[in-house]
Amino acid sequence: MPLPRLVDTALDRLVVPGWSRLGYVARSAGWRALPAVDGRTVIVTGASGGLGAATALGLAGLGARVEMVVRDRGRGEQARDAVLAEHPGASVEVAVCDVSSLADVRRYAAEVRDREAAVHGLVHNAGVLPAERTETAEGHELTFATHVLGPFLLTRELRPVLRAGSGPTTPSRVVLVSSGGMYTTPLRLEDPESRTGTFSGGAAYARTKRMQVVLAELLADDLAGDGVVVHSMHPGWADTPGVASSLPGFHRLTGPLLRTPAQGADTVVWLQAAAEPGHSTGLFWHDRAPRPTHRLRRGDETPQARAALWTLCVDAVAS
Ligand SMILES: NC(=O)c1ccc[n+]([C@@H]2O[C@H](COP(=O)([O-])OP(=O)(O)OC[C@H]3O[C@@H](n4cnc5c(N)ncnc54)[C@H](OP(=O)(O)O)[C@@H]3O)[C@@H](O)[C@H]2O)c1
Repeated sequence: MPLPRLVDTALDRLVVPGWSRLGYVARSAGWRALPAVDGRTVIVTGASGGLGAATALGLAGLGARVEMVVRDRGRGEQARDAVLAEHPGASVEVAVCDVSSLADVRRYAAEVRDREAAVHGLVHNAGVLPAERTETAEGHELTFATHVLGPFLLTRELRPVLRAGSGPTTPSRVVLVSSGGMYTTPLRLEDPESRTGTFSGGAAYARTKRMQVVLAELLADDLAGDGVVVHSMHPGWADTPGVASSLPGFHRLTGPLLRTPAQGADTVVWLQAAAEPGHSTGLFWHDRAPRPTHRLRRGDETPQARAALWTLCVDAVAS
């Protein structure tokens, strides 16, 4: 039976019960099985481990053709083999692309456009939480490049194949995997490259995760005419290599409460497969339900700030 709406909302607002394994277990008892997605091609970035690998596994289990985008081919092939071990007949390929590199994103997207008539799904899952400020070869701060610029550019570059993959009842779907950490900050654009002050990986992470949520709304508007829907989501707290290495204290403290990677990835898979998210666009989801993007209404972005984020992305990928 589905959880009553009031109880679900209370779990969400209390954070720990909602975002941990407890929230998943309570909510998932009322969920329906996901439909098959045979014949759909879905690209998943950051698929060599953690939630990306779990997303690939979930989608392959539903019959999707999955392209696992990774930085390191060897790790990618290991992750692909793990998917094939569970789903021997699945169609799963590995592609190498560093999504923090605009040049590599352009190269990869051109290669996809050359070989694929249509792409039905794109999951921007790749994520980082660096301890120190790091610049890409193109001079962008790593968190900003990985979470915002790379996904923005890849979505735009894949627009023709996403458009081609869209049908009247089954739109192509783009999903940005954000984080509940984005609730800790409003949209802040005064220093997107983290050039001033003392660098905090956590602050850069939260800021760029907030940008992803707004970006999903902006991309949703931009792609509406192409029949492509765009959503963002947060997975709750899941036990992944990234959490263990970047947040060891949090990992130790919350250990038994953490979700499995499959539980964290469930809503990503659902957003690609279920009928309901194909009928809306630009929403922020957690555990298969739309969630508010701000805890307090006064945190809402102004139209000017939203337009400024768009311009920031357009200018950054143009130069
Ligand atoms: N786990 C959680 O509780 C949690 C909570 C909130 C949000 N999230 C979000 O969920 C996503 C996945 O997180 P995770 O916990 O699974 O992290 P993870 O275990 O660190 O996995 C991150 C994945 O992203 C890949 N990656 C990083 N930079 C990349 C780049 N430039 N190009 C291509 N791939 C790249 C990594 O590849 P390598 O193997 O090469 O490092 C790895 O496969 C992230 O966006 C994260 O912010 C996770």
